[in-house]
Amino acid sequence: MTRADDILTALEALRANDVATHGGRTLSYVYDSGLADADEIGRRALASFAGTNGLDPTAFPSLLAMENDLVRLAGHLLRAPDGFAGTVTSGGTESIMLAVLAARDDPKNSAAQRDSPSMVLPTTVHAAFHKAAHYVGVRPVFVNVDPVTFRADPAAMAAAVDGTTVLLVGSAPSYAHGVIDPITALADVAGEHGIRLHVDACIGGWVLPFLDGAPPWSFEIEGVSSISVDLHKYGYTPKGVSILLHRNASLRKSHFFAAADWPGYTMLNTTMQSTKSGGPLAAAWAVVRYLGLDGYRELAQVAREATVGLAEQIAERGLGLRPLVAPDSTLLAVTTTQDAGYDVFTLADEASSRGWLLSPQLPFRGGPPSLHLSLCAATAPRVEELLEVLAE
Ligand SMILES: Cc1ncc(COP(=O)(O)O)c(C=O)c1O
Repeated sequence: MTRADDILTALEALRANDVATHGGRTLSYVYDSGLADADEIGRRALASFAGTNGLDPTAFPSLLAMENDLVRLAGHLLRAPDGFAGTVTSGGTESIMLAVLAARDDPKNSAAQRDSPSMVLPTTVHAAFHKAAHYVGVRPVFVNVDPVTFRADPAAMAAAVDGTTVLLVGSAPSYAHGVIDPITALADVAGEHGIRLHVDACIGGWVLPFLDGAPPWSFEIEGVSSISVDLHKYGYTPKGVSILLHRNASLRKSHFFAAADWPGYTMLNTTMQSTKSGGPLAAAWAVVRYLGLDGYRELAQVAREATVGLAEQIAERGLGLRPLVAPDSTLLAVTTTQDAGYDVFTLADEASSRGWLLSPQLPFRGGPPSLHLSLCAATAPRVEELLEVLAE
C-alpha cells in the first residue's frame, strides 16, 4: 500500500499543468463563485454521497428527494407551468441528448417522423446537438443565423421544417457568441407545425432569471416544450449536474428506458446512466441551498456587470480588439479589429503564459476567429487585470 499523504502529494503534482479551477482567470470550462464556503460545502456533500447509487431510488430515497427539490426550484426559476416534469442528468450534453431522444420517440410522431426523424437547428447551437444527432439518430438540418446579430433566423428555420422534423432548437444564450435566440418567434414556428421546441439554457439558465431586461426565453412562452439548464456552470456546483425540464410529464416519458426481460433487477432509468454516483446531485443540492436565490441573484448581477463593463472597455481602449456582438448574458466573444496587427491565437497563447485561459474559437461560416470569455463572479474583481494583460 502507498501512504495516503504520498498519494495526495502525487495528485497535486498531477494537477500541476492543469488550468486553475478557481481564481477567476480561467474563462471557459470552470465556474467560480469566489465563495470558499460554498465550495467547501459542495465538496463535503460530494464526498459524503460519493458511494451512493442513483440506479435505484427506492434503495436511496435521499437522492430522489434531492432531485425533486432541485427540479422544483428549476421549475420555479424557468417559469414552468403546473404539471411540468424534470430530471437531473450528468451534464448539458446528457440533457440535450435526452431532449432529442424524447422528441424522436414521441408516440404522436407521424410515420414520416418515425422513419427519418430530423431536427432544425441554428448553426450556432452547441456541439452537443451534433453529438445527439449522431448518437440518437436524428438528422440535423442546420440553418444559418443572422450574420450581424448571430441570432437564429426564425423565417429561415420555418422554411427548413418538413414532415420529418421532430424538434426545433434555440439557445439562451449560445455558447460561442453569448446571444439569446428569438425564442418567441421560434415558438410560433414550432406551434404552427405542432413540433417541439427545446431551449438550450445550459449556460444561461441559472443566470438570466436573475437579470433584468432579458427578452423572454423560458416556459412563459407557450411553445417551449423543454429546457436544459446546468448547475455545474452558473449554479457554481461541482461538475456532474444538469437539469432537463419538460412542460409536462407526457413529453418527458419518451426518454425513460425500462427493461425487465433479463434475469436481474428490473432496470428503469430516467437518464442515460444506470449506476450513477449521488455525489454530484448531493453537492448541487448543498450548494444551491447554501447560496439561495438571493445569493444567486447577486452572483449573476456581479458577473453580468463585469461582462458589460469588459465589453465596453475592450471597445474603448483601442487594443485592437472588439466584441463580436453585444453580450446578452455573461459570455463574450472578442475578435481583432482589422488594424490589430496580431491574431486571437497569439493573444490566447500570450494570455496563457500570464495565467489566463482565453479559449480561441475558429473562423466559422464567414465569421472571424474569436476568443471565448465566460465571466463568472470570481472574474469580476479581475477585469482591470485582464484588460492590462490584453493591452500588454
Ligand atoms: C449552451 C450550451 N449547451 C450545452 C453545453 C454542454 O454542456 P456539458 O459540457 O455540461 O455537457 C454547453 C457547455 O458549455 C453550453 O454552453
